[in-house]
Amino acid sequence: MSTLFAICATYEVDDGAARGFVLQRREPDGSAKPWPILVTRKGNNFYGFENACPHQGARLDKHPGEFMDEEGNFLVCGEHGAQFDLDTGQCFIGPCQGRTLAAVELVIDDGDICLSGIDLDEEDGLDIDDPEDDVPEVQITSD
Ligand code: FES
Repeated sequence: MSTLFAICATYEVDDGAARGFVLQRREPDGSAKPWPILVTRKGNNFYGFENACPHQGARLDKHPGEFMDEEGNFLVCGEHGAQFDLDTGQCFIGPCQGRTLAAVELVIDDGDICLSGIDLDEEDGLDIDDPEDDVPEVQITSD
């Protein structure tokens, strides 16, 4: 079985929303290259896509973290306004109508959204804090 790489907990992606991550993917020559992806959610289903518009390859979030249209129903490319379904990644209006965001396979494991079978470099660049860092240290004092 291939290694799972947890990118965040399921509760960290709101229903009907999208969240972006920049991972580091290892290239065939051994170098690491930033790899922006996004995760969308519809109900309890999660979908992963490369954050690269099929029109001209731009990141959808021209303004970092802004993926949705004003009503919050669809993914929108900030470059020329193409709109995509949250679950299929298919562009239904815009300059790349009929084309689809490249899918990234997700595995849900014990409440975590994970990637499988992808050669990732270190976690550098992941845009979320390690939840372990938020746990306060317990100090036992006596007087
Ligand atoms: S690059 Fe996304 S619509 Fe043109």
